[in-house]
Amino acid sequence: MIGRLNHIAIAVPDLEEATKIYRDTLGAKVSEPVPLPEHGVTTVFVDLPNTKIELIEPLGGQSPIAAFIEKHPKGGMHHLCYEVDDIYEARDRMVELGATIVGTGEPSIGAHDKPVIFMHPKDFAGTLIELEQKD
Ligand code: CO
Repeated sequence: MIGRLNHIAIAVPDLEEATKIYRDTLGAKVSEPVPLPEHGVTTVFVDLPNTKIELIEPLGGQSPIAAFIEKHPKGGMHHLCYEVDDIYEARDRMVELGATIVGTGEPSIGAHDKPVIFMHPKDFAGTLIELEQKD
């Protein structure tokens, strides 16, 4: 069912610091920061030849990644995002197989303006999984 690895997201306490690591130390192309208040994060995208890295920093008091940063003060891998052909079909399959969808269970619009769902790490080898509708 899953297709390409769309991105790996790394939650960080300091986006400017993380940008310097990826841009200056690792020599990657890094975008300008994009605030996504409806998701409670600010994001920068690191463009790699075969995928993207998203660096995400908490934004606002209710950020869904605030607790993660508390547990991982230096930052850490937050989720993997795989592309699927049909987000509703994928969601129905996940529900049918007993996986826990995070939130309402309805796809929401993600960082790339495409519908996404998140699946709880407990069902996926300890890793939060995002599924994103393909182009
Ligand atoms: Co993501």
